[in-house]
Amino acid sequence: MSREELKNGIAHKLTLQDLASFCARLGFFYPSGRIYGGLSGFYDYGPLGAELRREILNDWWWYFVERRDDVLGIHGSIITHPRTWIASGHVESFIDFIVTCKKCGSEYRADHLLEDLGIHVPELTLETLSKLIKEHGVRCPKCKGELGDPAPFNLMFTTYVGPKKTAASLAYLRPETAQLIFTNFRNIIMTMGVKLPFGIAQYGKAFRNEISPRGFLFRLREFEQMEIEYFVNPKKLDDCPYYDEVKGMEINLLSAEMQERGEREGVKITIEDAVDKGLIGCKWHAYWIAESLLWLESIGVKHNRLRVREHIKTELAHYAVQTFDVEFLFPQAGWKEIEGISNRSDYDLKRHQKYSGEEMHIYDDGEKVIPYVIEPSFGLERVILAVLFSAYNEIKGRRVLSLHPKIAPVKVGVFPLVSKPQFVEKAREIYTILREEFKTIYEAKDSIGRRYARADERGVPICITVDGRTFEDDTVTIRFRDTREQIRVHISELENEIRRIFKEWDKIALPCQVST
Ligand code: GAP
Repeated sequence: MSREELKNGIAHKLTLQDLASFCARLGFFYPSGRIYGGLSGFYDYGPLGAELRREILNDWWWYFVERRDDVLGIHGSIITHPRTWIASGHVESFIDFIVTCKKCGSEYRADHLLEDLGIHVPELTLETLSKLIKEHGVRCPKCKGELGDPAPFNLMFTTYVGPKKTAASLAYLRPETAQLIFTNFRNIIMTMGVKLPFGIAQYGKAFRNEISPRGFLFRLREFEQMEIEYFVNPKKLDDCPYYDEVKGMEINLLSAEMQERGEREGVKITIEDAVDKGLIGCKWHAYWIAESLLWLESIGVKHNRLRVREHIKTELAHYAVQTFDVEFLFPQAGWKEIEGISNRSDYDLKRHQKYSGEEMHIYDDGEKVIPYVIEPSFGLERVILAVLFSAYNEIKGRRVLSLHPKIAPVKVGVFPLVSKPQFVEKAREIYTILREEFKTIYEAKDSIGRRYARADERGVPICITVDGRTFEDDTVTIRFRDTREQIRVHISELENEIRRIFKEWDKIALPCQVST
């Protein structure tokens, strides 16, 4: 495989199932409740997964909140006032369609059942799903029994607040973090002195009682979202001061129009052309699509495996005017959504104004405005899948996880070449200093080759080795995971050199350049 292919492609044939086994073996993720047989749709983060999660969340926060002056972060509660979900439309409309086998009682998500049989579902309506099941004579995959009619199923988990389990104490676990932003909108404008346009960001848990969770971390019942609601005056949807910075960016776009013509492949088009041709409704929406792609690429997701697909009309959520999914090309599974970017208009704020009686306007140019919202909404676990599939390489039996140092769970490995006391003492001395600043591991067990191999598959970007020469000239080697190249560095310069390497990583290291 050429350098270019290694840079852009994926040098493996890993399935989601293979990735799940790899991740469990290395301590990234474990099925939750495994000792009791597991609970479908729930995963626990192991030591490496917990670090990876923290790093991605931190980087998202840094990229979209800390380094900007127009986005503020909040952290809302998981259970909130139940009227929130009536106002938002989730109680009424947050549904999928379920079919139940009349013979064995197995339950299926109707559209998934059809798609698994290769039956195209043009729209998600009760009538269409019923018609397709009848037309194709679909029966229960488990017992071949007759299926009942599809029925709407609300995905929200319910609970009770307080000791009484009554209709009055019924509450919901949030199915999206977004609504906490809308219900705090008034608090933010009253306390933070914000002016349009501005955004409010939040990450945290979301819960959906998915009918058929599947695909390892892809469709979970408990997952994490990273969401921004970016508020814009509806008369100024094209007044985006950052637009010029991104308008030349080329994206792979599959518009609704193209899908309605039966096309399944996207086209390469610049952001500017997509806006000028009316494919993306406004410049603010286009800007947030570009920013999302740039962030994904900055954490190592491969550019050529990302595309932007517009929702067709029947797919649009109840609140959306226009939605684009950022999709990742998964091996075997194909293009799948990892982020949704919607224009939610003023739907949510107006609904909360109506249901709460609280004013949801802000003044802009002396006029009362209920802003429109552009919403980039990432699912953390799906971003993790895209990162892992982009980083994983298997060449001649050597497994390498080429994670970017800024998100790698472990940044540095420190090893004595041999386990003689002098080597061990020096290596531990270096380890103790480095771990103050970098997440560092120390290992002395097994041959140096095995230790390097273990570090490579855990995604450790560099390893420091104390060898015989260390005792002659106070130098150690730094070994690069992706190239296996080594350089010698004076111990007194080690911290500076590591800082420089990580800062200049994109220039120094060729991702996935694995010598065979
Ligand atoms: N606030 C908008 C919203 O929630 P969504 O498309 O339903 O929109 C946004 O969800 C993102 O959340 C998706 O792009 C996906 O990455 C993630 N997500 C949604 N459902 C999920 C599930 N069951 N398991 C894992 N991630 C999920």
